[in-house]
Amino acid sequence: MAIKSSIYNCVIRELPKIENRAGNITPLTSGKTTPFLIKRVYYLYDVPGGSVRGGHAHKNMQQLLIAASGSFDVLLDDGTNRKTVSLNRPYYGLYITSGIWRELLNFSSGAICLVLASTYYDESDYIRSFEEFKKFYN
Ligand code: TYD
Repeated sequence: MAIKSSIYNCVIRELPKIENRAGNITPLTSGKTTPFLIKRVYYLYDVPGGSVRGGHAHKNMQQLLIAASGSFDVLLDDGTNRKTVSLNRPYYGLYITSGIWRELLNFSSGAICLVLASTYYDESDYIRSFEEFKKFYN
């Protein structure tokens, strides 16, 4: 058994936005505008309509998810409570602590999900079965 996380610690954070008539900039500085040091950045794109991504939890990794373009929904589950958060602006980030089950769904056409991650890729950090997740944290 591991220490249980709470979906109530997974919050939307407003990101800095430098506005200009010629377009806006959102700068992200590791450990300053993010609640952890960034070790990895990746992005999801060309997601076919109706696809569901995620479907796993991370034992250690924390993430900040940003709808860099378009929109999508994030379902969060801590083994007891569940909530769905919609992301649809590039200047909002959803902070997801470790120990949270997540599914990404309802991607709009052309959506880009930018992910800032606190760890390098490590398959052993994933829990890919919801049953296993429930057992691990309950
Ligand atoms: P996964 O994290 O399961 O994708 P999602 O949560 O978006 O559905 O990753 C899908 C595949 O890509 C899986 O085989 C692992 C691989 N992958 C890497 O090799 N490196 C990475 O940094 C990431 C995020 C995934």
